[in-house]
Amino acid sequence: MDILDNVAEFQEDEISALQRSRHILDRTLWRRSIRQFDPQRKVDTHVIENAIRVAMKSPSGANQEPWLFGVIDCPDLKIKIRRAAEVVETNFYDNLAPIEMLDALKLLNTNSDKAHLEDASHLVVIFSEIYSLNHSNEKQKNYYSKESVCIATGMLISALTYSGIWTLTHTPQPAGFLNQILNVEPRLKPVLILACGYPAQDLKLPNLNKKEFNDVCFFNIHKKTERIQQT
Ligand SMILES: Cc1cc2nc3c(=O)[nH]c(=O)nc-3n(C[C@H](O)[C@H](O)[C@H](O)COP(=O)(O)O)c2cc1C
Repeated sequence: MDILDNVAEFQEDEISALQRSRHILDRTLWRRSIRQFDPQRKVDTHVIENAIRVAMKSPSGANQEPWLFGVIDCPDLKIKIRRAAEVVETNFYDNLAPIEMLDALKLLNTNSDKAHLEDASHLVVIFSEIYSLNHSNEKQKNYYSKESVCIATGMLISALTYSGIWTLTHTPQPAGFLNQILNVEPRLKPVLILACGYPAQDLKLPNLNKKEFNDVCFFNIHKKTERIQQT
């Protein structure tokens, strides 16, 4: 076993864990997804880069780090991505989406217009590496790549939120157009586009109900709540 350098890097200081946890809670409680970005306001690319460095610290199955982050701030590329996404989204809303899903989405008032892809300061396209290639160019399966990429994405969103950046998690289906536009090999599957930026002046947020802490967390033994049986 090698010496655990990281342990030596971690410095305990006078700020307690409780103080830190309150600070991160205060700095992230405001988080919401936005669909209207201010096209004039750019995020410092270093902020995006630092957030990706946080995401890179994510745990990953068998340490395979099965992620690739594509950062796009070139206006022409953003327009290209928007156009391609709107083609698949139009087909999704018109032909593919099950009625129940369209019903569930109604409260968000979303449609095939994806202006955020053009207006957001940066798009981070997150790819999941289903398998890697060894030195002999043989395929090596990556374990838990989906879970690992999801955890890394959560860390990325937390870091951006902590830094005051607003985001939208966008999952166009199918998303293969991103491989073509960004020149990424097909063994890397695009999982989502994270649009990052600042809100437009006329930002409107859907009024969503959120669960309470006790609805989503239990300590030790779960207390089952009675549910009305559907007949
Ligand atoms: C896995 C995942 C996929 C999502 N895909 C989309 C999407 O394709 N388009 C969109 O407008 N919002 C998408 N969202 C955002 C959700 O609609 C949003 O998080 C949810 O309505 C809760 O709102 P909030 O983020 O403001 O709390 C997605 C969120 C997640 C976690």
